[in-house]
Amino acid sequence: MLPKVLVINGPNLNLLGKREPDIYGPQTLDDINSKLAVLAKELGLDLEFFQSNHEGEIVDRIHRCVSGINGILINPGAFTHYSYAIRDAVAAVGVPCVEVHLSNIHAREEFRSKSVIAAVCLGQVSGFGAISYLLGLRALAEEVI
Ligand code: DQA
Repeated sequence: MLPKVLVINGPNLNLLGKREPDIYGPQTLDDINSKLAVLAKELGLDLEFFQSNHEGEIVDRIHRCVSGINGILINPGAFTHYSYAIRDAVAAVGVPCVEVHLSNIHAREEFRSKSVIAAVCLGQVSGFGAISYLLGLRALAEEVI
């Protein structure tokens, strides 16, 4: 059985393609997920996709990672900056996690430069548009394969 990675996208990322394309680019979440699927095949990973606009749903999905999920690739959206609940969930399950962002969160409004989740992740990739997800998956593969 191939190692399985859960790709989690947080609030408003379902609107990619329409949402502030000057900041987040023209691609939809489906476009990004298709690119991830191609890379996953190359790397020998199985992928599952989850998007929610609700903090509790994301926490519940992370809890279920204790069985059957070997790694988490997460773009927590705005929850990045204040969700101690998501941070604690990642820490609690102990599944290797990589945080990704389309935009460079360190070059925008000050509130975006802080991630409360990055410290419980293996690392963070930020600022490369859809490529952030692909780089994040490559990094995660080094850990889970
Ligand atoms: C984001 C950056 C966050 O600050 C923002 O709230 C998002 C998207 C990114 O991918 O660049 O929703 O996570």
